[in-house]
Amino acid sequence: MKRIFEVQPWNVSTHEFKAEDKRLQESMTSLGNGYMGMRGFFDEDYSGDSLSGIYLGGVWFPDKTRVGWWKNGYPKYFGKVINAVNFIKMNFEINGSKLDLAKDQISDFELNLHMKDAVLTRSFVVTKGDAKVKFNFERLLSVAQKELSVQKVTMENLSNEPVEIKVISAIDANVKNEDANYDERFWEVKDIAAGSIVAETVANDFGTPRFTSGMQANYVTSLQPVGNELTDLETSTTFTGKLSQGEVASFEKRVIVVTSRDYDSQDKLVKAMNDLSKKVSTISYDELLTAHKNIWAQRWEQSDVKIQGDDEAQQGMRFNLFGLFTTYYGDDARLNIGPKGFTGEKYGGATYWDTEAFAVPVYLGITKPEVTRNLLMYRYKQLDGAYVNAKEQGLKGALYPMVTFNGIECHNEWEITFEEIHRNGDIAFAIYNYTRYTGDKSYVLNEGSKVLTEISRFWADRVHFSERNNQYMIHGVTGPDEYENNVDNNWNTNYLARWTLEYTLKVLGEVTPEQTKKLNVSDEEKAKWQDIVDRMYLPYDKDLDIFVQHDGFLDKDIQPVSAIPEDQRPINQNWSWDKILRSPYIKQGDVLQVIYDFIDDFTPEQKKSNFDFYEPLTVHESSLSPAIYSVVAADLHYEKKAVELYERTARLDLDNYNNDTVDGLHITSMTGGWIAMVQGFAGMRVHDDVLSYKPFLPQKWQSYSFRQVFRGRVIEVSVDKDGNHLKLISGEPLDIKVNNKTVTLDSLQTN
Ligand code: BGC
Repeated sequence: MKRIFEVQPWNVSTHEFKAEDKRLQESMTSLGNGYMGMRGFFDEDYSGDSLSGIYLGGVWFPDKTRVGWWKNGYPKYFGKVINAVNFIKMNFEINGSKLDLAKDQISDFELNLHMKDAVLTRSFVVTKGDAKVKFNFERLLSVAQKELSVQKVTMENLSNEPVEIKVISAIDANVKNEDANYDERFWEVKDIAAGSIVAETVANDFGTPRFTSGMQANYVTSLQPVGNELTDLETSTTFTGKLSQGEVASFEKRVIVVTSRDYDSQDKLVKAMNDLSKKVSTISYDELLTAHKNIWAQRWEQSDVKIQGDDEAQQGMRFNLFGLFTTYYGDDARLNIGPKGFTGEKYGGATYWDTEAFAVPVYLGITKPEVTRNLLMYRYKQLDGAYVNAKEQGLKGALYPMVTFNGIECHNEWEITFEEIHRNGDIAFAIYNYTRYTGDKSYVLNEGSKVLTEISRFWADRVHFSERNNQYMIHGVTGPDEYENNVDNNWNTNYLARWTLEYTLKVLGEVTPEQTKKLNVSDEEKAKWQDIVDRMYLPYDKDLDIFVQHDGFLDKDIQPVSAIPEDQRPINQNWSWDKILRSPYIKQGDVLQVIYDFIDDFTPEQKKSNFDFYEPLTVHESSLSPAIYSVVAADLHYEKKAVELYERTARLDLDNYNNDTVDGLHITSMTGGWIAMVQGFAGMRVHDDVLSYKPFLPQKWQSYSFRQVFRGRVIEVSVDKDGNHLKLISGEPLDIKVNNKTVTLDSLQTN
């Protein structure tokens, strides 16, 4: 654990600048508006270690796979959202000497992410010889105008003598990805002019689309422009001014960023870029800021979570919601939620099962249903890619990818790509989850039934029948616990496969005759699916009364996590891969993930015996893990444990728990705080169309409250030492259950 930011309810700020924490600071001060995002790297060049990264949603490149020995079926490329042309760059000179925080003498440093308004500020005083200048930076990516980036800098002369200030503001296409497989640059400049660049991604051999992005800057400043310079890859404009003692100069840079995702020709793209640039040049900074802030205020109004009595938990919760909102707010149905969002290169900015398993439960509760429906539609639209993946494995139906942009698998570790097929079941589960929560059957009975049918066709082909056991089995898989590879009969995978077939059969009984015709599932196919449902092998141990994670798991040397010496954790940074695979340690919820998904379908005894067995073996080295265990712990009234796990998920990045936040934030895990609080502490469930709660208050908290969107209503749930208070903020009255008692929610309710 490492904490480098102060604990404040609405801010992530520090007054210390330490070069060794630079990447960590950059990750934690990332900004985004769903359309684009960036790490909190400095506007000006910094000669020390840094990971500068700006990413444009949906703009990616297929980087040719690099592996030792090629195996048939390997994805040909590793798709990654690429580092965009750097449009925020601006360098400063004071009396001819370049500002560089890695070398300069600075004081009064402050870096401050204002979560309420989604604005990043930075200030410091720099001394260069006799010159002393106070710099103040502000930065935002507008949610009112998605293509707009705004930077404002003020420079105040604190010295007794006049100082010469120079600002060189640039758009720079000389950028690379740190994780590029062949160290190539992915951008090719098409057009460069004073203040603008149009660049296209380089050609690829895989037939995936190339993207063009255009960036145009304009300026509002008290300094004087003195000229432009163009190189092959960079356009820059220089401004100068002499500041007398106490004088303040201000410099605003507004950049419009457009991409070929929204325009089908370069001409249209350039026209849009010019028009938008002209439009924003006439609006004052304060107006741009206010429009942006107002939208953020509405978002917080609908979904803020308040915690009293625990400032750390409060800050963690807001930071998580902030991370989610900056990544995805459902505005563009073609986009999805990458595990690192716009905050780093790892995981390539692509779509994972994280969306269905971890993001869907939260987006259902904090945004309107259309947002989640769009996430489901995203998979429907990628069915063609999913057919390709199944075919690559010699199988029928659809295999959704572990990692993708277009439906085609684009990750190249065989134990993940080939084997981690539980994802197909998780994607089916999300359809059920959406329908259960919203009551809206329009997706499942139409597009959803197609997705379910094709996933079922895959499962029916992927299982094999074991004559000896008279049961169906699934061999050679990796479950969600990636610390076990190539196992047989992973309980999670077998359970999800069986459940998907059963659910699909049920849905097929409800679709219209036209849809039945389109789906074209024969009676023979249905009978086969039913047989698999009836005879699927699900490993179970009678003595321990637990579902066994996979065949052979119980033959391991079962020692609790507490037996691992502290200095050897996290094990993935200290042990060989081989040692990890042989160990009994579980990376993340596997059996417990399914128990969480179907929490009302298991008896309290089943939940208890499985939790008591698996929790002591779980290292939670996937950030996706603790929240899931927290919900099951809360369900079992293990309140202390539920809170301990919540704390781990809620401040995972702020406290750098897994020692890897330098790579970027764990955006999809930022759902964990909400999941643990709402489904865990408040015990929120939806069962048979009834919304219910069984809340408890963590001992050290005075109160917590959250707002939840449910079937056209906004409901506020507050829990304090006096009990639970439920309030209908908007929408029609509703019957709900609180601690098993039915109450009608039509005005202020107190239990
Ligand atoms: C987890 C996966 C997850 C991926 C991206 C891995 O560490 O084990 O379950 O999909 O990260 O978040």
